[in-house]
Amino acid sequence: MPAIVLIGAQWGDEGKGKVTDLLGAWVDYVVRYSGGNNAGHTVVTPDGQKYALHLMPSGVLSPNAVTVLGNGVVIDPKVLLGEMDGLTERGVDVSRLLISGDAHLIMPHHRALDRVVERYLGPARIGTTGRGIGPAYGDKVARTGIRVQDLLDPGILRQKLELVLREKNQILAKVYNRKAIDVAAVVEEYLTYAARLRPHIADTRAVLWDALAAGATVLMEGAQATMLDLDHGTYPFVTSSNPTAAGACVGTGIPPTAIGQVIGVAKAYTTRVGAGPFPTELSDQAGMHLLKVGDEYGTTTGRERRCGWFDAVVGRYAVRVNGITDLVITKLDVLSGLDQVQICVGYEIDGERVDSMPTTQTGFHHAKPIYEELDGWWEDITKARTEEDLPATARRYLERIEQLCGARISVVGVGPGREANITRHPLLPAAAADPG
Ligand code: GDP
Ligand code: IMO
Ligand code: MG
Repeated sequence: MPAIVLIGAQWGDEGKGKVTDLLGAWVDYVVRYSGGNNAGHTVVTPDGQKYALHLMPSGVLSPNAVTVLGNGVVIDPKVLLGEMDGLTERGVDVSRLLISGDAHLIMPHHRALDRVVERYLGPARIGTTGRGIGPAYGDKVARTGIRVQDLLDPGILRQKLELVLREKNQILAKVYNRKAIDVAAVVEEYLTYAARLRPHIADTRAVLWDALAAGATVLMEGAQATMLDLDHGTYPFVTSSNPTAAGACVGTGIPPTAIGQVIGVAKAYTTRVGAGPFPTELSDQAGMHLLKVGDEYGTTTGRERRCGWFDAVVGRYAVRVNGITDLVITKLDVLSGLDQVQICVGYEIDGERVDSMPTTQTGFHHAKPIYEELDGWWEDITKARTEEDLPATARRYLERIEQLCGARISVVGVGPGREANITRHPLLPAAAADPG
């Protein structure tokens, strides 16, 4: 089997965790390739248990999948160990986790700088999750980062930390009026994490190459999303990594030629957490409906998500930039109870119609959505399991999204549970042969 990439096609929280979990029974490896504990992936297992995963790949809830944190992930070891302990307490086996020695660590100065920089940005703030993501990737790019492998050598760990804190402590104290960070205390703390993480550290590239060569199925689970991509998203209101499909190669070492399928997950409407342009954002009754019925509160920070109509300009862009072969449209059930539903088909920017992604940040800020209005539906569709179970207007809505985005919709989500889906085209051949 070639490798499969699963990505968010909007601004995050599309339901990537649920879809990864859905495929868990048929995949051998689930690999995170970018981001860190800024992600929050909610999975509801068939016994009704709800799990909020931040660093652990969602495949941890599948009995046989090996979970991997690739080199592209940034790891806060305290958070990871806390998550492993929490899962273990709930009877989930985390022993099959493999961690790349090349993954970068989130250090205390990253968390401190993330928060204080946001505060200083004031109204220009990004609205980050405050987890230290941007500063950790910043150090990686500046070649002053500390990696998982450095935990295995106390001398090196101290040396690297001393070097980086020589500068960062000056910045914390003199620019931001914060306390300097003590090297010895951090080394001591991180060495306790080292002892526990050591058995999981592996040459994950080689593990994945060998697995693919032996015919295993490898799923690379995206975090964040296309419009939060550092290069392809709404810069600067983005995260500091590449969540798009191409990032999966960089963040794992799996070559592009090994990837045979890209699953794009999108909500039937749009949400965004944090600042930045969002042309279809709603502040009316319909927006309130999406917030309340969709229960749109962040898994990581608990923040209210901004809600709006489905944006097919974004959808089309995500299909092209990621090479999406299959779309999964989640939360269609949330749209039940609306007389009309709207799909954004283009933007008006300073008096001109634009059908593709604005080419400048100012253009994006000025973009006003051009809508196509479709009839809604009132039926409860949470029990629908085939397309025929859906009202005709809901089917028409999906068909229109499919046409506008330019990729087939393979699965439609109608509830948070693993079983609450309509499969139009099986995502994996094995799943088609044995739907569980
Ligand atoms: P992720 O970050 O992409 O994994 O998404 P989140 O877990 O942050 O947010 C998606 C939320 O929607 C979670 O609470 C899921 O349980 C829930 N969810 C996923 N798919 C569906 C669906 O089809 N219908 C409903 N009602 N909820 C869903
Ligand atoms: P999942 O994987 C939604 C947003 C933050 C902020 C911006 C930068 O659950 O879809 P960061 O802390 O990464 O520097 O914040 O990105 N953001 C997310 N929004 N879902 C996520 O992850 C996100 N991860 C980061 O809100 O606007
Ligand atoms: Mg999320």
